[in-house]
Amino acid sequence: MRVPMIAGNWKMNTTVSEAIELVNQMRRGLDEIADVDKVICPPFISLAAVRELIKGSSIKLGAQNIYFEEKGAYTGEISPLMLADLCEFVIIGHSERRHYFNESGEIVNKKIRAALKAGLKPILCIGERLEENEAGRTKEVLTEQLRSSLAGIDNLGGLIIAYEPVWAIGTGRAATGKQANETVGFIRQTISQKYGKRIAQDLRILYGGSVTAANTDEFMQQPEIDGALVGGASLKADQFLSIVRQTSEIKGESKRGEASLI
Ligand code: 13P
Repeated sequence: MRVPMIAGNWKMNTTVSEAIELVNQMRRGLDEIADVDKVICPPFISLAAVRELIKGSSIKLGAQNIYFEEKGAYTGEISPLMLADLCEFVIIGHSERRHYFNESGEIVNKKIRAALKAGLKPILCIGERLEENEAGRTKEVLTEQLRSSLAGIDNLGGLIIAYEPVWAIGTGRAATGKQANETVGFIRQTISQKYGKRIAQDLRILYGGSVTAANTDEFMQQPEIDGALVGGASLKADQFLSIVRQTSEIKGESKRGEASLI
């Protein structure tokens, strides 16, 4: 059974003191919610402070990016070894990085390999643009993103995939639960063809793109969707708590137990 996961991608928001304040607002509430992996991904500069704040709690920590070299003269970059010392997860291949920073499939692949080698769990983001979606090319685009991101990787380790349609990110225009479920099912099928049914069945695939407390239940009711990668709503303690709480209620252990009895 796949443990549901809600990850908050804070993107380029919060100073260190604001990050501390936000964690203080959410920490207790999040810690009390069982059956869901709760991951927060603040900016690099706040990772160390947040790590101290969540020590001893069930909240997990992730970074938003990584460089693929272990160390050396790469001014301004953060290496897998540095991150492995601080956190468990790292977001890789986010569409904002692909589009604003020209990250190619090849770079994403190098980053995934480097993260896995360092023992980090990559959250690999894939998703189609609006024009690709409208041209009926979603599956083709996702297939190519999966192929290039995972080229030459035999062992997925703790990898997680986030399906984030670019047209749904930060736009308030989320996919429908049904649409997202279908596409996530397609991603699982594609993984199954390359890695086998068992790996695909165990792989967690999240949906991301304008997830809020108001539409969480629509996504979490879907059998293929294992959680969410949340942007804007993860910066509001009450919203993020509500998203995690609803996920626990819908997909938590007791519910899964009930489902398996039916
Ligand atoms: P929003 O939830 O703000 O649409 O962002 C989604 C996202 O990009 C998460 O990585």
